[in-house]
Amino acid sequence: MSRISYINGLYKKHYEASVHLEDRGNQFADGVYEVIPVRFSKLIDCNLHLERLFKNINSLKIDFNLSNKTLKFIFERLIYLNKIKDGIIYLQVSRGVAKRDHAFPDFSIPTIFVTSRNQKLDKKLLQNGVKVVTTKDLRWAKCDIKTISLLPNVLAKQEAYENNAYEALLVDDESFINEGSSSNFWIVKDNIIYTGPITNKVLPGITRKVLKEIINIEKMKFKEERFKLEDAYEASEAMLTNSSNVIIPVVKINNKKIGSGIPGNIVNKLYNLIEKNIFNQINM
Ligand code: PDD
Repeated sequence: MSRISYINGLYKKHYEASVHLEDRGNQFADGVYEVIPVRFSKLIDCNLHLERLFKNINSLKIDFNLSNKTLKFIFERLIYLNKIKDGIIYLQVSRGVAKRDHAFPDFSIPTIFVTSRNQKLDKKLLQNGVKVVTTKDLRWAKCDIKTISLLPNVLAKQEAYENNAYEALLVDDESFINEGSSSNFWIVKDNIIYTGPITNKVLPGITRKVLKEIINIEKMKFKEERFKLEDAYEASEAMLTNSSNVIIPVVKINNKKIGSGIPGNIVNKLYNLIEKNIFNQINM
């Protein structure tokens, strides 16, 4: 059975669904996206993802008018049609098709497509942790918008893979760590959990937001504060968060062992707490 995807009002065979050559998403990366987790065939934190989506759509002034209800209907239909159990929904909205010209066209209908895929959490990553490398943050000044303009992120991730690492941490000129190429980054130092504040250099991750709430509820020690690479080297634990993998412990940065070089208690505790939160949503 072939995979089905949604594009501009139609459900099509995945390999037959395509975007116009002059779509502004193709030519200018003029669009936004979301990755929404699916666990046990249920959407996780969907409202938070849609809230961020519409915020981003508004900041790019894209005239998009599908409702939350319609979008959820499309996601659930794809979960059903493609038998998605554990995986992700990918949604992309661009400004649409227009004759190539940098400025916004007078009129265009936004292009929307949604794909889905099964993708189990990799438990080995959680058990063993991962190595990360650092690289210069070459991105633009609006990294808080989840745009499809991801070339610096792609190059950073490739650099990580070529160095046998799982992720690249993006570091600024003053040695502050902004985030990973496709994840938010956290450290634990003196039993305090740290992640950087949301600035124009950090994507407001949904996993980050949910975890922050859990940390507050659990009254764990937490500081939303920028930290440098040197602080990360001295951390007892570190981790990455994103919607595709929830939490991944980091045990090495640039070949320097973090803590004892294995995933630590606080990161494991956070993982168990966020998983509990996911299971609560599934059983709702
Ligand atoms: N990326 N920072 C960046 C640069 C990201 O690309 C992502 C997610 C995150 C974490 O956000 P969230 O918790 O909402 O997934 C932080 C997705 C997963 C991707 O591009 O595939």
